Amino acid sequence: MSDAAAPAGKPATGIRKGLTNYGDAEFSLFLRKAFIKGAGYSDDALDRPVIGIINTGSGFNPCHGNMPALLEAVKRGVMLAGGLPVDFPTISIHESFSQPTSMFLRNLMSMDTEEMIRAQPMDAVVLIGGCDKTVPAQLMGAASAGVPAISLVTGSMLTGGYRGERVGACTDCRAFWGKFRGGEISKPEIDDVNSRLVGSVGTCSVMGTASTMACLTEAMGIAMPGSASAPAVTADRVRIAEATGTQAVALAAAGTKMDTILTQESFENGLRVLLAIGGSTNAIIHLTAVAGRLGIRLSLEQLDRMSTETPVLVDLKPSGKYYMEDFHRAGGVPAVLRELGSLIHRDVPTVTGRMLGEEIDDAGPGFPQDIIRPLSNPVYPEGSLAFLRGNLAPGGAIIKQAAVSPALLEHTGSAVVFENTADLAARIDDADLDVTAESVLVLKNIGPVGAPGMPEAGYLPIPKKLASQGVRDMVRISDGRMSGTAAGAVVLHVTPESAVGGPLRLVQTGDTITLSVSQRLIQLEVSDAELARREEAMGPASQVVPERGYRKLFVTEVTQADEGCDFRFLQG
Ligand code: FES
Repeated sequence: MSDAAAPAGKPATGIRKGLTNYGDAEFSLFLRKAFIKGAGYSDDALDRPVIGIINTGSGFNPCHGNMPALLEAVKRGVMLAGGLPVDFPTISIHESFSQPTSMFLRNLMSMDTEEMIRAQPMDAVVLIGGCDKTVPAQLMGAASAGVPAISLVTGSMLTGGYRGERVGACTDCRAFWGKFRGGEISKPEIDDVNSRLVGSVGTCSVMGTASTMACLTEAMGIAMPGSASAPAVTADRVRIAEATGTQAVALAAAGTKMDTILTQESFENGLRVLLAIGGSTNAIIHLTAVAGRLGIRLSLEQLDRMSTETPVLVDLKPSGKYYMEDFHRAGGVPAVLRELGSLIHRDVPTVTGRMLGEEIDDAGPGFPQDIIRPLSNPVYPEGSLAFLRGNLAPGGAIIKQAAVSPALLEHTGSAVVFENTADLAARIDDADLDVTAESVLVLKNIGPVGAPGMPEAGYLPIPKKLASQGVRDMVRISDGRMSGTAAGAVVLHVTPESAVGGPLRLVQTGDTITLSVSQRLIQLEVSDAELARREEAMGPASQVVPERGYRKLFVTEVTQADEGCDFRFLQG
């Protein structure tokens, strides 16, 4: 690479950046321009600041189905500000079209994003993502690439309707599926529901991982104010895209890189908003990974302390009752930030070039609505998430306390253990399974290494024989994740995971387990001596490392949940 074609004494910009190295920089530029002029570009266009736009449209990703409209609008915004927009593709990941899991592919997308930003000449980049893993992957990659960047989410899907009931993906998917498993609704009915859950392209219509990451991205100042919540197919979303393109040109001129905006304080704002919106447990892993790229270590103890002083203010599914469309009409993230008041760091920069506090003030006063509550009248008195520790999770575990059936917040029960997802599938609905509503369901080997890729299998289904008796929630424990759209007494991210030798692998059916959210405790009631005996009998944990390719890289390099499941060699 060479920047020798830049004017003397100045760093190369625009089309002159990062020339391919043939040993003659002027010739490299000459060749580059010759090729792109084949696409009809003029010298005037090629002299403008270049704004890269990451196009993650894919026929396999309906959450990004509005990509053509967003690209057109971002390009319009870039050109209105005098820049040259150039879009380029990267990997796109959809939750339901990613085998073995979308999490397995997140780091690959982050590497693709980082290297293609770095490889191609651009003065700033617009990151268009939306579905759960795409936004974190883009933030991770752009943070490492060190080019000015601004995030634009695709926006949420519209809700649908079923027999007069408003429905949306994918909290209602799970509720209806639970009724079907319990025999409450028939096969024709569940087939009909299937066609009505998703009203349009866009990301899940509840406060799942995609919506959570959209809100956190805005709250941390890396996306335009008010940009997180507009649904995918609205005029607001297109206008936000245009404004994002315009602002990308300003970012390029100022040279503002992500490490200027994403600081310790802005991550704290992100954590604070995560707690206040009742956001997804997955966001903890993603924020930790993004912060890790910038050399910032997020502390889960700190998150837990913040949780005791940050009530849930947003009444959205899965822990509440409304949808993202309603959240947008109620004022979206600026309204949440305003209600959080002094709990938010105001003196942190944003992509607009102004401080977050200025943007909050600019958003104006509130108005009557019951979706974003004031601190004085919260939906839930504490933050949505609680950080657990105990002999079962020395490195910690997470529970979404706001979405737990209250009777299960303090619970002691007898373990019913499944060794892996295949074992779970084979036995969970067995009529002879020795399980009651008081049992604690334990699933091993679904951690970052074990599955591999930490699938969202932590939301274990209620055994059919209990579901048919009306049981809707049980304590469930695993080293995996669950969808941000799910709810229940589900203990997740048990660290270290069973596949690398965590204590979870020692649990046996019949053991007593205590969950105490008030004490932040997850405890296996088995003596240390007995655990040591089991450990010795089992021998050291050994993981089969795949022979080649990305799977080998993943299993060899992935970190545990408390480090964001990033690859060791990608951390800052
Ligand atoms: Fe894409 Fe839910 S599946 S956001």
